[in-house]
Amino acid sequence: MTLRALAPSGVPFSLSDIVHGLLAAMGGERSMARFRDQVADRFGKRHVRFFSSGRGAVSAALNALHTRFPARDEVVIPAYTSFSVASAVVHAGFKVRLYDVDPETLGPDAQSLKRALSDRSLCLMVCHLFGCPADMDTARTMAGEHGVPLFDDAAQAMGAAWKGRLAGTFGDIGLFSLSRGKNISAVDGGILVTNEDWLAEALDALAPEPPSAKEKVKLWLTALALCFLLHPRLYWIPNSLPFLKLGESHFDPDFGVAALTPFQAGLGIRMLRRLDRINAGRRRVAVQWMNALKGRKFPSLPEGGDSVWLRLPLLDSGAGEVMKEYGVVPSYPSGLHEIEALRPHLAGSGSYPGAERLARSLVTLPTQGYVTEQDIEHVARVLGGGTA
Ligand SMILES: Cc1ncc(COP(=O)(O)O)c(C=O)c1O
Repeated sequence: MTLRALAPSGVPFSLSDIVHGLLAAMGGERSMARFRDQVADRFGKRHVRFFSSGRGAVSAALNALHTRFPARDEVVIPAYTSFSVASAVVHAGFKVRLYDVDPETLGPDAQSLKRALSDRSLCLMVCHLFGCPADMDTARTMAGEHGVPLFDDAAQAMGAAWKGRLAGTFGDIGLFSLSRGKNISAVDGGILVTNEDWLAEALDALAPEPPSAKEKVKLWLTALALCFLLHPRLYWIPNSLPFLKLGESHFDPDFGVAALTPFQAGLGIRMLRRLDRINAGRRRVAVQWMNALKGRKFPSLPEGGDSVWLRLPLLDSGAGEVMKEYGVVPSYPSGLHEIEALRPHLAGSGSYPGAERLARSLVTLPTQGYVTEQDIEHVARVLGGGTA
């Protein structure tokens, strides 16, 4: 067992973040309001709502949309995305309607998307995967033609932009995640942003309860652990504990939804202030990877796209090109249509070759702050970059 290991993603807390979190916990609702104002300013949205997780936020958003469109019961999502997205749709009690993705850009495949939309669509979700912004023109136009609300899922792409506009701010409602492997973190958490007053009111009617005292203590302890365990000298510890199931994808619609805590708001406030610096670091590491692995294939950005590369996808990897101790790992193991337990919840059927190709041939390279030039050189030597 090697005693150095890189996390595929993650951003560590400092002890001073934790202290600020604890002070924010004492501030209660005032801390929540500060974080709300900060997010509203940053993303130019009037309404900001917090949840204990991104999937909880998605589930609440779908229920809120349903109050306006009660006859619509299908949520249109990409066939290649986080299993949590499908879990949230089923948690909220709706059918999943899939569309394929373009395996070069990771964005929507226009033909497939067109076939998926109908007057039963509750909303169209577009996910900006791995920090890479999707071209939103097609999605916006098609959603508009069908009168379908657009849900801009920037869970992995806080700070990414397309044509000068931030991911998460397109469409009727947007999502950011604050879970561990995301652009910034509050241990866990989900943020919804919208300018629609009716949607904000519907969300308020569904506001979740605060977590239990036990859950709160668990959040403090996890935050403390995350101060240290993302360090490469220590990451081998969580990395070698199978029960933590790090990096595994599970379809699990049976999850609880609670409110974000003021402690988490305190962490969020600190992290959001660092977002630009964190993203600049990730972009720099991504460029180093691309230079070291010239000749290998990375996603093509849509014109006007500015990615934050939460993780850098390598699109032409072989199955053997996993180097777990260097944070080089596969992502979603299959298209959503291939998840056995999701089948009863699928609306219609179809083929999704783009999703299948990505599930087979994509690994991600880490861009988090602990990656060194030596790590990149070593991995490039093993993976065989063209001119490395
Ligand atoms: C695209 C996307 N949407 C939604 C979610 C759900 O976020 P959370 O992990 O906070 O539940 C995730 C999580 O990985 C995601 O990647």
